[in-house]
Amino acid sequence: MRRKIIAGNWKMNLRFDEAKALASAIRDGESAYRHEVILCPSFPYLTSLAQVLAGSKISLGAQNCADRENGAFTGEVSASMLASVGIPYVIIGHSERRIYYHESHAVLKDKINIALANGLKPIFCCGETKEVRLSEQQANYVERQLEESLFHLSEDDILRVIIAYEPVWAIGTGLTATPEQAQEMHHFIRTRIAARYGRAIADQIIIQYGGSMKPDNAAELLSQPDVDGGLIGGASLKADDFKAIIAAV
Ligand code: 13P
Repeated sequence: MRRKIIAGNWKMNLRFDEAKALASAIRDGESAYRHEVILCPSFPYLTSLAQVLAGSKISLGAQNCADRENGAFTGEVSASMLASVGIPYVIIGHSERRIYYHESHAVLKDKINIALANGLKPIFCCGETKEVRLSEQQANYVERQLEESLFHLSEDDILRVIIAYEPVWAIGTGLTATPEQAQEMHHFIRTRIAARYGRAIADQIIIQYGGSMKPDNAAELLSQPDVDGGLIGGASLKADDFKAIIAAV
């Protein structure tokens, strides 16, 4: 049985006092959590929130890292910096990075390599746009994202990657993939991993769903056989909603 991992992607939201209060509220009651929980706040809050969460089972992730090791890249944050302050996870390839900051398959491949080389565990996002879904090309589109940025990895390295399937048309729109649509794509992703790495590895990879997951739809989505957790945006900014999602299954 794969474990489930529920992650909150706070995106570019919350002031510091609000972020601390949210992390404490999520920490409260963690003894009841049956799943692993990851919080992904903005860079400046990571080390302070590590103190808020010290001694708890809740982990932290960054929302991005640079595609270069270190050096003269003003404004960037490297994987080695994140590792040096003890951050275990990093989101790579979120659709907002792909769309607004033009991150290509090749750049994301470099980010994945650098994250892994520094001991970070990437949460690699993939998922099709609305146009792609309307033309029923979602399988090809997501397969290309996996092939171009992930499938060069060794067996040991792919096992350190979490995949998040996030259909772009469902992110922040209130439109959620139906449980059947989510299961179909998660199953497809696992089938492609199995074709590349074998069934035993495919069966171990965590594939999260993201895109308007809320307390009222989480149980149905999370009970699909190939849905191993959630990457939650809007609903992760409210402690009660996020906790309800964690408790949904
Ligand atoms: P929403 O939950 O706000 O749709 O965002 C999903 C997401 O992009 C998580 O990374």
